[in-house]
Amino acid sequence: MDEIIIRTGCKEDMPWVTQLLIDGVAGRHFNPTVNRQADGLLNEILRCGAFEMMKARHGTIYRTRVNARFDVAEINGEPASFLITLSEGRETELHLTGTKKQFRRRGCARRLAQHAIELANNQTRIFARCYRASSFAIDSLKKMGFVQDGEDKDTVELALKL
Ligand SMILES: CC(C)(COP(=O)(O)OP(=O)(O)OC[C@H]1O[C@@H](n2cnc3c(N)ncnc32)[C@H](O)[C@@H]1OP(=O)(O)O)[C@@H](O)C(=O)NCCC(=O)NCCS
Repeated sequence: MDEIIIRTGCKEDMPWVTQLLIDGVAGRHFNPTVNRQADGLLNEILRCGAFEMMKARHGTIYRTRVNARFDVAEINGEPASFLITLSEGRETELHLTGTKKQFRRRGCARRLAQHAIELANNQTRIFARCYRASSFAIDSLKKMGFVQDGEDKDTVELALKL
């Protein structure tokens, strides 16, 4: 029986998380800008739990500072999966997630998402925006109670139905 624990990400996690982010861009799971932002993003989150980003919402693009969490799932003592969660105002976004190939399909990403949902105030809208290529992530979110709440050419937005 696998033992999965969730802990806060740390500096030592940066190399494998950065590699998963780069692989995820190649697999069309993340925006290509993640390639050059990965290091800076993780450093900023570790340093102060927040970072500045450009957000595209409701037809406008704006610069904003968002609070961010960086969590890691360990399976049987091995770091396996990460999740970066953003919160701004009354919204919580499951922003970037990935699991090392050898640990996939053992429940790590789901446990991380459940943990982020538990931490989010239930007054908050909890959502994720996934590229259409990320069908495993989309299916997983739907199983957890997320429903489609928007889409564009490349992405689908899902929100947790309260
Ligand atoms: C998506 C991803 C993070 C899932 O990580 P994981 O730790 O393997 O996920 P889990 O084991 O918690 O699986 C949760 C659910 O995801 C779906 N899923 C995950 N891997 C799957 C696979 N190989 N085939 C079909 N469904 C799959 C299933 O619905 C699964 O639930 P189930 O096992 O009860 O059927 C991982 O496949 C990954 O890193 N992919 C590349 C990056 C990516 O897609 N990130 C998400 C961007 S939005």
